[in-house]
Amino acid sequence: MKNTIEKFVNSKGKEKLTMLTSYDYLTTTIIDEVGINGILVGDSLGMIFQGNDNTLSVTVDEIIYHTKAVVKGSKNSLVISDMPFMSYQTSINDAIVNAGNIIKKGGSSAVKIEGGVEIAEHIQKITKSSIPVMGHIGLTPQSVNVFGGFKVQGTTKESAIKIIEDAKSIEQAGAFAIVLECIPERLSKIITDIVKIPTIGIGAGKYCDGQILVYQDMLGINNNLVKFVKNYGNLSNIIKEAFCNYIEDVKKEQFPEKKHSFKINDDIINEIKNLF
Ligand code: KIV
Repeated sequence: MKNTIEKFVNSKGKEKLTMLTSYDYLTTTIIDEVGINGILVGDSLGMIFQGNDNTLSVTVDEIIYHTKAVVKGSKNSLVISDMPFMSYQTSINDAIVNAGNIIKKGGSSAVKIEGGVEIAEHIQKITKSSIPVMGHIGLTPQSVNVFGGFKVQGTTKESAIKIIEDAKSIEQAGAFAIVLECIPERLSKIITDIVKIPTIGIGAGKYCDGQILVYQDMLGINNNLVKFVKNYGNLSNIIKEAFCNYIEDVKKEQFPEKKHSFKINDDIINEIKNLF
C-alpha cells in the first residue's frame, strides 16, 4: 500500500516505521519492493556517494538529480528529500524557494530540514506553502563544525533540555515527523512520549516510533561503521569476490563464453576478411 504523510502520522503508537536512505533508481526498486515505509534522499550522499568528509558541499541540484532517480524507483515508499546546507538557513524565502524546487523538479513528497527552535519559523512557512517537512534534531551533521565532529548529543542536562525544546518547537511549526540522530535512548523516549508526531531514530535507541539507516552501512558496503549501525550483510566481501572472479576469468580467457557473444553469417565474415 502507498505510504502517505497521513499513514506516517497515523502509525504512531500502532506500528513501527521503517526508513532507509537511497540515492539511485535500482537500489530504490529493491527497497521499495520489500515494503520500507519511507526513503530518504539524504545529503549523506555527499559522504557515501561522493566520498567527502562531511555533507556540507551537497547542492540543491544534486539533491534534485538523485531525487528524480529515487522517485522513479519508488512505487509505494514515501520519498523525502534532504534540504542541503545553506539552502534554507539563509532566509525563509530561500527555504521556500529551494524546498519548492526540490519538490517540483525532484518529485519527492516532502523535505527534511536539520535544526530546532532556530528554524521553526522556516518549517512553519514551508509547511504553509503545502510542502510537508520532516525535522531532524540531535546530531545534525550540517553542524559538524560547531559540534567539533560527529558526536553524541544531549548527554548534559542543558543540551538534553534544548533537544526537547527543539522537538516541541518543530512539532508546533507543523513538521509531520522528526529524525532523532545520535542521542541517548532515554532522551528519545521522553521526546517520543511528548510529541504527537512520529520520531524516527538513527543512533537514538529503541523507543523511537521508527528507525532509519543508511543502506550502504547496514549492508556492509561501507565498512567504516559507527556503534549504532547493525550489520545486516557483508556486501563488500561479496562484491570483492565477484570482481576478483571477473578479473581471473578475463585473464584466463574464460569470459566471455559463446553464450555471451553475438553471431554473424559466415559468408559476410569471409567477404569482410577478403576486403582487408
Ligand atoms: O542524510 C542522511 O542520510 C540523514 C539520515 C542519516 C537521517 O540525514
